[in-house]
Amino acid sequence: MSHRLLGGLSPREFLRRYWQKRPLFVPRALPGFAGVLDRRALGALARRDDVESRIVERRGTRWDTRHGPFSEAKIRSRNATLLVNGVNLHLPAAEALLRRFHFVPQARLDDVMVSYATPGGGVGPHVDSYDVFLLQGPGRRRWRVLGKNYTTSAGDLLYLPPGVEHDGVALEPCYTYSIGFRAPRGAELGAAFLDWLHERGLPEARYRDPGLAPARRPARIPAGMVQFTAQVLSRIRWSRSDVVDFLGRYLSAPKPHVVFRPGAGRGRRVRLDSKTQLLYFGGRFFINGESLVVRHPERLRELADRREADLERLAPLAALISQWRRAGYLHFTNKEGDG
Ligand code: SIN
Ligand code: CO
Repeated sequence: MSHRLLGGLSPREFLRRYWQKRPLFVPRALPGFAGVLDRRALGALARRDDVESRIVERRGTRWDTRHGPFSEAKIRSRNATLLVNGVNLHLPAAEALLRRFHFVPQARLDDVMVSYATPGGGVGPHVDSYDVFLLQGPGRRRWRVLGKNYTTSAGDLLYLPPGVEHDGVALEPCYTYSIGFRAPRGAELGAAFLDWLHERGLPEARYRDPGLAPARRPARIPAGMVQFTAQVLSRIRWSRSDVVDFLGRYLSAPKPHVVFRPGAGRGRRVRLDSKTQLLYFGGRFFINGESLVVRHPERLRELADRREADLERLAPLAALISQWRRAGYLHFTNKEGDG
């Protein structure tokens, strides 16, 4: 990969020195970056109900937010921003942009958000809880980060670790691409894991009290009921492979509004749909919240890592591939690599 993207650093050096540690500004990381969509295409996405979008308007030092879908995603000619999340799910070119950041595991990736702002527009000073690469598209924006100012123009990149306050103000009509990462929190994992356990099946025992004596204090919870509950709960067990199964499903599960549509394309190459998340751990694979084990894991790992592969190479997995094609999880194409 081009080291220019990280200001001359190799991915390894970047990760060691900056990732989750300190901001990095890289002028001309992607020289001549023209963006992957224009104002109209962004507005069209903001009209869809399967796309998350918002409009933020600044009034003095107040920022008002409205959430999409918008019947008309028009914004004021000053002090306004239209933001669209998950652009990579809908636009292969935005997905291809993500590939430049594949030195970070796909399980850490959240989405590509694109904003279009008119002069003076921005979302106001704030802190994000995630790592983010802010890639400037056409038009200039001024960023204020930890007391420093940066003026970014097309192709400049700013990396921010979680928790660093930042404020970007459009100097002229401009686009900003936020390549954002996710990092699960314990409470979120715990709650989702309890759901997983529930789905898998919990102990069915029912409390019985054939020797019940008349209650003198009817509001008191019977000690036997506490005992029974403690016992039943202690019977809930899980193994490390349960944890893997849960985590893979959890990380690959599509966001709630995502819909897959089978395509009609033909060709010799298989390409994962932009919305598909295919992950693996050892011989177990996870695709869009489902879990499976296959007979030729190495070939499927190649598809997962590169997000595309020769159909011929996947021939031993033909039945699975056609099942996923019918589900809209992947498509056939003749084009190679360009997204
Ligand atoms: C923006 O694109 O205006 C906001 C990006 C961010 O600060 O996270
Ligand atoms: Co931010």
